[in-house]
Amino acid sequence: MKIAILPGDGIGPEVTREAVRVMESLGLPGLTLFEGDVGGIAYKRHGVPLPEETLQIALGSDAVLFGAVGDPECDGLERHLRPEQAILGLRKELDLFANLRPAKVFAGLEHLSPLQPDIAKTLDLLIVRELTGDVYFGDKGERVANDGSPEGWDMMSYSANEVSRIARVAFRAARAAGKGVTSVDKANVLETSQVWRDTVKEAAGPHPDIELEHMYVDNAAMQIISRPSQFGVILTGNLFGDILSDLASAAVGSIGLLPSASIGERKTDHGIFGLYEPIHGSAPDIAGQGKANPMATVLSVAMMLRHSFSREEEAARIEAAVAKALADGIRGGDLGGTHGCEEIGGAIIERL
Ligand code: NAD
Ligand code: IPM
Ligand code: MN
Repeated sequence: MKIAILPGDGIGPEVTREAVRVMESLGLPGLTLFEGDVGGIAYKRHGVPLPEETLQIALGSDAVLFGAVGDPECDGLERHLRPEQAILGLRKELDLFANLRPAKVFAGLEHLSPLQPDIAKTLDLLIVRELTGDVYFGDKGERVANDGSPEGWDMMSYSANEVSRIARVAFRAARAAGKGVTSVDKANVLETSQVWRDTVKEAAGPHPDIELEHMYVDNAAMQIISRPSQFGVILTGNLFGDILSDLASAAVGSIGLLPSASIGERKTDHGIFGLYEPIHGSAPDIAGQGKANPMATVLSVAMMLRHSFSREEEAARIEAAVAKALADGIRGGDLGGTHGCEEIGGAIIERL
């Protein structure tokens, strides 16, 4: 089991350390970890956010565990040198086009959600976010506008092939979960979204038994909060998926609770190659203080064991241990508690 550990910046190293501790406590056979620099720390040490050596470590592993990147000191750098380019580069280079972001209120923990408990308890959805296209990866630049002022521009596009391959992932996930698909777009305004919607309709052809609905993104943001029970699988593009997943995390209770898996089509000896990371960022406001909640990263390890190593049993054990820790009142500051990062990691290991 070859795993690349890329802790990154800010709270990345803190939360990754706890997730690795949880993983090691399982006593898995043949676990071999390789560490690499990414993000601002890589820029400071190697002059680039994604060094070739780190990319090679990732390419040579069965799975990648990623912390977070982003450093306010680097926000003024030319875009290609900024820490965020490391995660964008890894997703693109490794062709990890499907980002799975489950959001679920743990049973009995409805009170952690800002939603009314009877609404919160119905929230159990999976965001299937396209990850290697959209306005994220189009041409971009700065030019002089007609009125003479500086103007920024970013090209948004989706090809039908990009849409149909992510739609297939969503329909497969919906079938496995026995749920419907809501495709989220902005087809009332954007041509990109019109191609998205037409292609999703076509991709639904082989799945007549799976309920498919189309929804505009502004309405979807509203509906996730007001009536989350209607959502099973949300299929959406890169930008909308980024925004809606932070929104869904707040409905669960904290961004410190949401894991993610980024996968493509490459198989390994044990399962499918993937990169696993919390959906949150480097949280510079609390970095280095031991305050971060590592649960999202720990839950990302569970997703890794499930998807990349076909170890459902251990994945479910980790998820149960996190739920038990929460039920026992173990809470980071993000959930109004006082437990520190290391303490939370230890509490999860005890419950394993
Ligand atoms: P953020 O997710 O880092 O933080 C948002 C808020 O949530 C902050 O108040 C933070 O303290 C809190 N928070 C986040 N994770 C937490 C955790 N595990 N425990 C407790 N509190 C937590 O988003 P931001 O502030 O917009 O971005 C900070 C930096 O991170 C930026 O440079 C951004 O580009 C980067 N970023 C990186 C990733 C990634 O690496 N995948 C994701 C999002 C943002
Ligand atoms: C995320 C992050 C990234 C994204 C940034 C850091 C590039 O916000 O993983 O959600 O927008 O995809
Ligand atoms: Mn994000």
